[in-house]
Amino acid sequence: MKASKSIIFTIVYILLISISLVTSDSALDNFLQCLPKHSNASKPITDAIYTLNNSSFQSVLESSANNLRFLTASTPKPMAIIAALDESHIQATIICAKHYGFQIRTRSGGHDHEGLSYVSYVPFIILDLFNLRSIQIDLKSETAWVQTGATIGELYYRIAERSQVHGFPAGVCPTVGVGGHVSGGGYGPLMRKYGLTIDNVIDVQLIDVNGRILNRESMGEDVFWAINGGGGASFGVILSWKIILVRVPTKVTVFQVAMTLEQGATDIFYEWQQVAHKLPTDLFIRATPVGVTTSGNMTVQVAFIGQFLGQNQKLFQVMNASFPELGLKQSDCMEMSWIQSTVFWAGYKNGTPPEVLLNRTQNKFFYKVKSDYVKHTIPKTGLETLWKWMMKTADRNFLEMSPYGGRMAEISESETPFPHRAGNLYKIEYGVYWTKGSIQATKHYVKWSRRLHAAMAPYVSSSPREAFLNYRDLDIGSNGSNCTDFEVAEVYGAKYFKGNFLRLTRVKAMVDPHNFFKNEQSIPPFPSQN
Ligand SMILES: Cc1cc2nc3c(=O)[nH]c(=O)nc-3n(C[C@H](O)[C@H](O)[C@H](O)COP(=O)(O)OP(=O)(O)OC[C@H]3O[C@@H](n4cnc5c(N)ncnc54)[C@H](O)[C@@H]3O)c2cc1C
Ligand SMILES: *[C@@H]1O[C@H](CO)[C@@H](O)[C@H](O)[C@H]1NC(C)=O
Ligand SMILES: *[C@@H]1O[C@H](CO)[C@@H](O)[C@H](O)[C@H]1NC(C)=O
Ligand SMILES: *[C@@H]1O[C@H](CO)[C@@H](O)[C@H](O)[C@H]1NC(C)=O
Ligand SMILES: *[C@@H]1O[C@H](CO)[C@@H](O)[C@H](O)[C@H]1NC(C)=O
Ligand SMILES: *[C@@H]1O[C@H](CO)[C@@H](O)[C@H](O)[C@H]1NC(C)=O
Ligand SMILES: *[C@@H]1O[C@H](CO)[C@@H](O)[C@H](O)[C@H]1NC(C)=O
Ligand SMILES: *[C@@H]1O[C@H](CO)[C@@H](O)[C@H](O)[C@H]1NC(C)=O
Ligand SMILES: *[C@@H]1O[C@H](CO)[C@@H](O)[C@H](O)[C@H]1NC(C)=O
Repeated sequence: MKASKSIIFTIVYILLISISLVTSDSALDNFLQCLPKHSNASKPITDAIYTLNNSSFQSVLESSANNLRFLTASTPKPMAIIAALDESHIQATIICAKHYGFQIRTRSGGHDHEGLSYVSYVPFIILDLFNLRSIQIDLKSETAWVQTGATIGELYYRIAERSQVHGFPAGVCPTVGVGGHVSGGGYGPLMRKYGLTIDNVIDVQLIDVNGRILNRESMGEDVFWAINGGGGASFGVILSWKIILVRVPTKVTVFQVAMTLEQGATDIFYEWQQVAHKLPTDLFIRATPVGVTTSGNMTVQVAFIGQFLGQNQKLFQVMNASFPELGLKQSDCMEMSWIQSTVFWAGYKNGTPPEVLLNRTQNKFFYKVKSDYVKHTIPKTGLETLWKWMMKTADRNFLEMSPYGGRMAEISESETPFPHRAGNLYKIEYGVYWTKGSIQATKHYVKWSRRLHAAMAPYVSSSPREAFLNYRDLDIGSNGSNCTDFEVAEVYGAKYFKGNFLRLTRVKAMVDPHNFFKNEQSIPPFPSQN
């Protein structure tokens, strides 16, 4: 009785699966046939289409997928990848995907920590932007137009090619794409002087759910506000940003000083917490603790990595006056051009030519990341707790503490959707990576990351416990279902955006009322009255 029931179930199940495969197969055919009708005939879209039939499908899929956790055999695959060669290919992809019921995942640099730009659990198409990456620098107006398929490394390189006294405030990993990076906030060593990337964006081109190309003027200030920090993926496809280039001196100074707990790291870190956010804005000192094993003994090593927008001598005066405890020595410091400092921050050996910034090949690991905001100095007992957790995954974790203050504290919480401004001493990134992706290893490290996050609760922001959108974390506000129910969204919305969340949902209701642009942590439309 029981056996025959389960056989019937199995048969019905197989039937259902084959029906859905047939449906999505013909839907895919229809989708593919729809594309040329909506794109510019002089730029054949067939050159941009990759399906399972194309031998290069897998390599295109993998090329910029950064987190190996989402490159496994069981990770759901897109029905097709459209690697747009022309803006009309984006328009066609949106119109046809909407018509034939596919979700779109837009991918720029593929660094989303949870793989949201290349993984979905419903039938989906990847709209890949790597072919659209022109960068036009205009030194006269000190601005640039950057297409979102560009990486920040390419952007830095193109700026420096034209000017030794201009730079741009963005992140440290050169292969990060400007599509996700900018729309999610974007920060780096120039943050205390010039703010976030979004604080330096002045115009944009966005393709909306109807395939229209909008700029700042035609989209209006609400939409422009929303996509600069609220994540682009909820509102459309960003084609390009217009940014302000910032001034940098011809020589900057960088340094790195590292010490273990045995060498007094706790005291110096404790001091760093109190001064880093108050230092002159030309100086950015990040603390990066890692758990390490040395000759079988576990400890934590804290490296203080700094950048000063000026020369050695002045840096020493500042350090002597504000942070002598670090014991910075002449031999720790290197003067170099700003572009060379971006190579330094990317972790390359001193003297590596800046052309490495153009290398789009990514270094890949399995990883999990979380974030926190610190508003009060963490007491030494709290630091002991942190160090203890870090030793449990020694040689596998990476933490970055990035000081706020300066320009960050001058901008109001509602100026952009990114709300983490005045009142923050620093932000924590907790990262853990591994190289063998067994289910057990993944479970082990993800669990460690959740337990560490729980252990840090007494020492960090609360109500809401804030988090950084660009450090995407699906543990936040998720209760196991993958739909973006409004109540679930209110939970992650408060953490990522605080009071700006509701305004984001109203903008969403205006530009994408049927919620076509959707992912596990997108902005849902503000519920309509009926
Ligand atoms: C190794 C590493 C280092 C990092 N360092 C920094 C750092 O120093 N500073 C910092 O601020 N962040 C940093 N990040 C985080 C990074 O900024 C975010 O992961 C960012 O979202 C990545 O952008 P992307 O275009 O590469 O990612 P993607 O995965 O392509 O996109 C991320 C999200 O944005 C959406 N999206 C992408 N392009 C578009 C577009 N054109 N229009 C609409 N939506 C779009 C995607 O759909 C997805 O939801 C780092 C991440 C990694 C993995
Ligand atoms: C199509 O592309 C060609 C070549 O780039 C361009 O000249 C033309 O204006 C485009 N047509 C439309 C309708 O965008
Ligand atoms: C992929 O294959 C399809 C046919 O299956 C073809 O139309 C398309 O041009 C191919 N794409 C590329 C980029 O070669
Ligand atoms: C893939 O190739 C098969 C056989 O050549 C063909 O029948 C099918 O239509 C192709 N599918 C797509 C999506 O191009
Ligand atoms: C490791 O710890 C042992 C015991 O505390 C100590 O004797 C030894 O010197 C340590 N080794 C290193 C390299 O610190
Ligand atoms: C450091 O500051 C002290 C006073 O705070 C001063 O006496 C000393 O000369 C300074 N040293 C350097 C190298 O500037
Ligand atoms: C580009 O980067 C990858 C990954 O780090 C590396 O393996 C490769 O050698 C680099 N290519 C060049 C031309 O430098
Ligand atoms: C998740 O939360 C939403 C809203 O709070 C609820 O509707 C849904 O049933 C929950 N799902 C699960 C699996 O708990
Ligand atoms: C939700 O997504 C996760 C991966 O993030 C997946 O493992 C799970 O099966 C999905 N659940 C549902 C109900 O679709």
